[in-house]
Amino acid sequence: MTATGERIMLKRKRRRVVAVERVGPYALLRVDRGGLEPGIPGQFFMLEAPGRLLPRPMSLCLAPPGELAFLIDPIGPGTRALAALEHGDRLAILGPLGNGFHLDVERPLLVGGGIGIAPLPYLSETLGRPPAVLGFRSDWHAEAATLVSNARVCVEPTLVTELIQEGVDVLACGPEPMLEAVRAIAPSAQLAWEAPMACGYGACYGCAVDIGGGLKRLCVEGPVLC
Ligand SMILES: Cc1cc2nc3c(=O)[nH]c(=O)nc-3n(C[C@H](O)[C@H](O)[C@H](O)COP(=O)(O)OP(=O)(O)OC[C@H]3O[C@@H](n4cnc5c(N)ncnc54)[C@H](O)[C@@H]3O)c2cc1C
Ligand code: FES
Repeated sequence: MTATGERIMLKRKRRRVVAVERVGPYALLRVDRGGLEPGIPGQFFMLEAPGRLLPRPMSLCLAPPGELAFLIDPIGPGTRALAALEHGDRLAILGPLGNGFHLDVERPLLVGGGIGIAPLPYLSETLGRPPAVLGFRSDWHAEAATLVSNARVCVEPTLVTELIQEGVDVLACGPEPMLEAVRAIAPSAQLAWEAPMACGYGACYGCAVDIGGGLKRLCVEGPVLC
């Protein structure tokens, strides 16, 4: 086993579910933190999905004392199994993994779209609650905006990119078309990308994506890319 592998193995922990709260169509899964570090905003954890072979990557959403919380969009079998967990259930968690956001920015503007807002509550708390702009497909989805302080919210057909002003340092997470649009407006933006992941720590190459003309393993070179 590689040195990196040993380090990763040591960080895998079985944690207990403290609560699962409904936030619009999403589930906020709160687990007992135990010895797990929350890491840097934008980093992710691999969560065991009950009944599924592979774990699922999830951004850390909140890090209240003694807990880690993940905002989950139940779009498939793994995320539905995670959203169906109950108080007292246990699951294996590995992390924090990947590269988070660079926090040394002068005029941060957090930009989130849909479930892409997941890492923003923790990022907002860490940066001292800077302005945020959030876009959702419906009022029901927009209920998740309550998790992010100091946020302006829009619902389609208004697009979140219409709320980005000039002269700010953009830190964004959302669907790929939104990230491409943000990059066109703010070329120096920090963007958190997504790809299906199997291992989460560089071993399987399942998350290799072509970004900017080069293949990147998002789990180790991202998910945040500048
Ligand atoms: C670094 C990272 C952080 C993430 N953070 C969150 C989070 O905080 N909250 C959250 O709800 N989701 C998050 N995701 C996405 C989440 O991991 C996937 O939605 C989940 O793995 C899907 O599993 P499933 O079994 O429910 O559905 P599946 O059946 O595996 O997938 C459903 C559909 O989504 C597609 N898909 C699956 N995973 C991805 C992906 N990562 N990117 C694009 N398409 C995908 C599949 O091709 C399929 O069409 C994150 C992904 C990454 C890579
Ligand atoms: S998920 Fe295995 S290499 Fe990235």
